[in-house]
Amino acid sequence: MNEWYKNWFSSDEYLSVYRHRDNEDAQKLINHILSETNIIKEGIVLDAACGAGRHSINLAKKGFHVVGFDLSKTLLNIGKSDAQSNNVSIDLFCGDLRNIKLKKKFDLIINLFTSFGYFNTDDENFSFIRTAYDLLNENCYYILDYFNPEYIRNNLVQESKREFGSKKITERRKIENERVIKEIIIQNGSALDSFFESVQLYSREKIIGEFEKIGYRCAKIFGDYTGSKFVQSESQRLILFFEK
Ligand SMILES: C[S@@+](CC[C@H](N)C(=O)[O-])C[C@H]1O[C@@H](n2cnc3c(N)ncnc32)[C@H](O)[C@@H]1O
Repeated sequence: MNEWYKNWFSSDEYLSVYRHRDNEDAQKLINHILSETNIIKEGIVLDAACGAGRHSINLAKKGFHVVGFDLSKTLLNIGKSDAQSNNVSIDLFCGDLRNIKLKKKFDLIINLFTSFGYFNTDDENFSFIRTAYDLLNENCYYILDYFNPEYIRNNLVQESKREFGSKKITERRKIENERVIKEIIIQNGSALDSFFESVQLYSREKIIGEFEKIGYRCAKIFGDYTGSKFVQSESQRLILFFEK
């Protein structure tokens, strides 16, 4: 299960299993982020772990300059072709959150839809926020969109099943060693494939503490993509706005 993220996000199945995480979902969160930040028109945005670029494309359509990186070449290739069909230009490249070197400075850095907590150590998981601090212009924001760990603990659905087309998907979830582990089993006729996700459950206090050690200030916290207030026992998302 080590380095599960390499297999899963390079598979053809990831986008179909998460197909509800679409452009509309991305647009909602981007609109909320823009309404809460003072990013200059035509500012430069870095989309860290951008996947197939749904947030990047939305931002580029609004006139921002966007740089995005991801480890999955499969998703980046989809992002490049989607950007082309949307007539926008985005600088997409293959890179690892733990080892990013860029010369540009940014007016906004985003890390969205739980693209955080994948690695085995705190040092690796918080490595990108250290890099990002140096890449961010003064008075600008780093946005982390993570799950609410309390909600996950209290509402864990151990098994769920769904179907689309000829595919039957079973998802099994458990919490082990402070990580939420999901096994995704996809049956298509006689073909059976399985993948894992394993994400560290960091408390809100731990995350804020690690950001503050670097020099960020936690400026705003929201509980969903429409900007509802974060409520520890109810919110599904933990969306943190850190200001440099
Ligand atoms: C849940 S997806 C979210 C993608 C995108 N932010 C979105 O909302 O559609 C997590 C992303 O993290 C990327 N990722 C995983 N490990 C990574 C790493 N070490 N460096 C960079 N990206 C990584 C995956 O390839 C995947 O695209």
